[in-house]
Amino acid sequence: MTRDILITGGGTGIGRALARHFADAGDRVVVTGRRPGPLAAVARETGARAAVCDHTDPVALTALLAELPATLDVLVNNAGGNTDFTDPGPVTGLEGTAAELALCARAFRANLDANLLTAVLTTRAVGDRLAPGGAVIQIGSIAADQGAGSYGAAKAALTTWNLDLAAELGARDITANVVSPGYTGETEFFRDRLSDTRRESLVAATATGRAGTPQDIAAAVGFLASPGARHITGQVLHVNGGAHRTR
Ligand SMILES: NC(=O)c1ccc[n+]([C@@H]2O[C@H](COP(=O)([O-])OP(=O)(O)OC[C@H]3O[C@@H](n4cnc5c(N)ncnc54)[C@H](OP(=O)(O)O)[C@@H]3O)[C@@H](O)[C@H]2O)c1
Repeated sequence: MTRDILITGGGTGIGRALARHFADAGDRVVVTGRRPGPLAAVARETGARAAVCDHTDPVALTALLAELPATLDVLVNNAGGNTDFTDPGPVTGLEGTAAELALCARAFRANLDANLLTAVLTTRAVGDRLAPGGAVIQIGSIAADQGAGSYGAAKAALTTWNLDLAAELGARDITANVVSPGYTGETEFFRDRLSDTRRESLVAATATGRAGTPQDIAAAVGFLASPGARHITGQVLHVNGGAHRTR
């Protein structure tokens, strides 16, 4: 059966690997993001359909609906990242502690928008189109369990929100899970802010002795979207080489 898959943030990194994974399996894939360039490249590579959309913007999401199929089998809320790696620009009109607090509030808001609001709005926008037997998968982060300021807090919120979503969608035979990557190479996640020392320490924290790859994450998402995972919902699947271990 050919399935219809929506991958948010599908132009680069993990999203791009997800597009390849599902396209190779014979599924019809739509990839979204804010920049047309990377999306066009993925469309050429995989045959996926590309649609420009900022998933924090309700107007853009409403417009996106016209470009999506009438039913969706799999939604991967992958768009996101740590907005602390993007220069927030100068703070004007405030000084000293007040300015720091304002900056901190902006940082929290930006990470919540990028990682929580994107997933919540997208799921609400396409909710009626999710087909029985379908799956929603959130891309969380090891940061939800290990800290990392507002980014970790946003990913933790995403994971907790998914609990209610799983309960809500279960009656419609739709699962909702989180795949939580550890450090994953070959992405734009760190921008140019990952030093060799930091990279080495992230790899050293794993039991496997290597960085994760976007393909590692795509394989886990593929499993949760597969017929063998129909009784798995409301869970977090950690893909981090043992950098964060659970019972
Ligand atoms: N790489 C890691 O080590 C790592 C670890 C844990 C979790 N993660 C998570 O994995 C997911 C994928 O990130 P990645 O590592 O593949 O990094 P990436 O290469 O930076 O990919 C993130 C994608 O999300 C898109 N995006 C961001 N905000 C968006 C918005 N408002 N609307 C639409 N698209 C948006 C970006 O495209 P545009 O800029 O063109 O919109 C980009 O293609 C993220 O949720 C990230 O938090 C990554």
